[in-house]
Amino acid sequence: MTDGIKASAADSRVTELEDRVLLLEHKLAALESKDPVLEMQHVEKHFGGVHAIDNFSVRIEQGQIHGLIGPNGAGKTTIFNNITGIYAPDSGKIIFRGEDITGSSPSRVAQLGIGRTFQNIRLFANLSVLENVIIASGKDATYNLPQAIFHSDKYKKREKQINEKAMNLLEIVGLQDKANELANSLPYGHQRKLEIARAMALDPKLLLLDEPAAGMNADESLELVEFVREIRGHFKITILMIEHHMDVVSNLCDYCTVLNFGKTLAVGTPAEVKSNPDVIKAYLGGNE
Ligand SMILES: Nc1ncnc2c1ncn2[C@@H]1O[C@H](COP(=O)(O)OP(=O)(O)OP(=O)(O)O)[C@@H](O)[C@H]1O
Ligand SMILES: [Mg+2]
Repeated sequence: MTDGIKASAADSRVTELEDRVLLLEHKLAALESKDPVLEMQHVEKHFGGVHAIDNFSVRIEQGQIHGLIGPNGAGKTTIFNNITGIYAPDSGKIIFRGEDITGSSPSRVAQLGIGRTFQNIRLFANLSVLENVIIASGKDATYNLPQAIFHSDKYKKREKQINEKAMNLLEIVGLQDKANELANSLPYGHQRKLEIARAMALDPKLLLLDEPAAGMNADESLELVEFVREIRGHFKITILMIEHHMDVVSNLCDYCTVLNFGKTLAVGTPAEVKSNPDVIKAYLGGNE
């Protein structure tokens, strides 16, 4: 091989390597600039003398399931209530898909794409399963009052669409056969699923689940894990969930944040936080 050929082979190898470095740099930049679905920055909330949330920050990426764990009274539900506009933080910022939603009203937050379930199930007990989902789709109704009173074509068409969408959601959560039963006649685990179907009615991008496995036995909790995974896959949704059952958290969450008295004790994968000495001391009591 002549020197000239050797030099040009080396040049092309250098160019090839430079191209690869450039490609990796692009990939890295794309990863770094990946906007989180939800970001909370230094959020504070007091109730009188109780410091319910103390300098809380979190960043949740698209498609993640993030767990929020901690002992009773740690501030978990208060975080949900601050995100969904039930309370406004005393200070700090809450950013949802690039938009500052700090202190926004609950209806605005729901319209922007955050759905939630409640620690204590909140269903209309004396309405049917289907009606419960239809009511939750209320903000999807694009007709006005006269159109509704006179049953205009627009009203009928929209009502039909809302009905079909509600049935579709019931199918996804496996309650289509129970559509006409009263909500309070459902067993507990099914009521939790109905709550999730209601939360999904406005096509949220972020779903907040407050202790979805509360009151469930081991089999029901396992079924819930599968179910939440399916929901994430089906709707390509991001989930923030409060959960006490460590087996549910370990099976489901990509990351979790551990709270104690409003302060963040640890952030990491379930395995990482479970082995964190502060967490073991404060929450797990060494029995996990
Ligand atoms: N509306 C309120 N008024 C006064 N204090 C409140 C209010 N909401 C919550 N708190 C207090 O704030 C602290 C955090 O409560 P929060 O309900 O957020 O805890 P949690 O982590 O969800 O607990 P749990 O696991 O029992 O549901 C508690 O001391 C609670 O008593
Ligand atoms: Mg709570």
